[in-house]
Amino acid sequence: MSGNREQFGSRLGFVLAAAGSAVGIGNLVGFPVGAAKNGGGAFLLMYAIFVFAICLPVMMAEMSVGRFAKKDPLGAYSSMTGNAKHWKLAGWLSIITPFMIAVFYLVITVWIFGYLVQSVMGNLDALANPETFGSFIQSPVLFAYMAIVLGVIYLILQGGVKEGIEKAAKVLMPALFFMLVLLVIFVLTRDNAMAGVKYYLIPDFSKINGNVINGALSQAFFSLSLGMGIMITYGSYIDSRSDLPGSAKMVALMDTAVAFAAGLMILPAIFSFNPDTDPSQLSESSIGMLFTFLPKIFLALQASIGYIGASIVASSFFLLIFFAAITSIVSIFEVPVAALMDEKNMKRKKALVLMGVLLVVLGSMSAVSFGMSDFFSAFTHYAGADKSFFDLVIDIFYDTILPLNGFLICIFVIYRWKKANFSAALSEGAQEYGNGWFAKYVNFSVGTFIPVILLVIFINTVAAKYFGVTLIG
Ligand code: PHE
Repeated sequence: MSGNREQFGSRLGFVLAAAGSAVGIGNLVGFPVGAAKNGGGAFLLMYAIFVFAICLPVMMAEMSVGRFAKKDPLGAYSSMTGNAKHWKLAGWLSIITPFMIAVFYLVITVWIFGYLVQSVMGNLDALANPETFGSFIQSPVLFAYMAIVLGVIYLILQGGVKEGIEKAAKVLMPALFFMLVLLVIFVLTRDNAMAGVKYYLIPDFSKINGNVINGALSQAFFSLSLGMGIMITYGSYIDSRSDLPGSAKMVALMDTAVAFAAGLMILPAIFSFNPDTDPSQLSESSIGMLFTFLPKIFLALQASIGYIGASIVASSFFLLIFFAAITSIVSIFEVPVAALMDEKNMKRKKALVLMGVLLVVLGSMSAVSFGMSDFFSAFTHYAGADKSFFDLVIDIFYDTILPLNGFLICIFVIYRWKKANFSAALSEGAQEYGNGWFAKYVNFSVGTFIPVILLVIFINTVAAKYFGVTLIG
């Protein structure tokens, strides 16, 4: 089976595909909003430390397990433990989690696609109306957009690893970098943009508290696509000659660079729209920022570059986010598809259709969670609040299970697979790795404080989310 396993054609292809997974809505919107509200440069600094000191070693753990086992996450946990029951459970979590995250990420991707289509069609003025978003997310036209987005995902994934995922990443990622740079240059040349740059880069450490630290770490973890079995799966498609630690570093670097650049695009845009803005007062969430605040800013550009100019900027922005979202959702959807192919010997296309149908059902349930269906909009009730189906999925899989999966992979590589094997696997294709300080740091951190931190986050989240008890924060 593993003899004819599909593979990425080149190391660059692998890095771009993994970076495509990592670079997503989290970097382009979540990070700038987090930085704007939580101390600018101070948040940035903390985020960068978390990416390199905590998330990078976890990413290396995931990639090395995948490459060693040459299997999907469930197959990897099972084959490397002689089918131990409790590790199989960890394997199951690593394929259910990405599927469920795809369920909510799909809905946001569909909204982005809708906004892209609308701005291309010249309807930016309607998008800038604060009422529009509320009615847009309740309109059945979403299902048409969903069909198109799913079609794009299918087209990419049916091509397989090299002809599908890698090819798409090689086109979409450079296009994304290019558009991002152009948009940053454009925004920085607006009036008052420098006030935003200052706000973004000058650290305000007084804003940092337990909650902000927790938020920055969760953001970094999600942003690097960890805890979702993705890096295990992508790792299973690379050969033992390529330098894995080096590739992981490149992915972390690209991911951080894109988040940083997104801040340089969004904060100055906010200030040039209104120089008196106090971004820490922005009550908006990432969703509010993306779908109500930013369209207003784009429309305001018509005073200087005309309506068509403003529409072009808005369309490029939504296209940029759409590319980022598509490469992420492709990576996440590949996980359950790979599991069906590996575990059930299913053909790629059949696995895609089966998982696709399931995604349509659950994706629709979360798409109608915003008023279209009363049942799914007030699906359940806990910790003193009504929760929609969409909220429930985010609470369980994004907030709760992701750190748990991170904890499990750390314990797995160090205490089950063992340090020496883990290090040896990472040294394949990177001989010097095993003798350097970095390997020592990775082994130490993955065996000690990283799982402890992830476990604390997990326990704290469970207490806060489901029992309304605040332990830390
Ligand atoms: N890394 C993505 C982001 O920052 C998160 C993600 C990856 C979401 C893969 C879904 C699938 O948005």
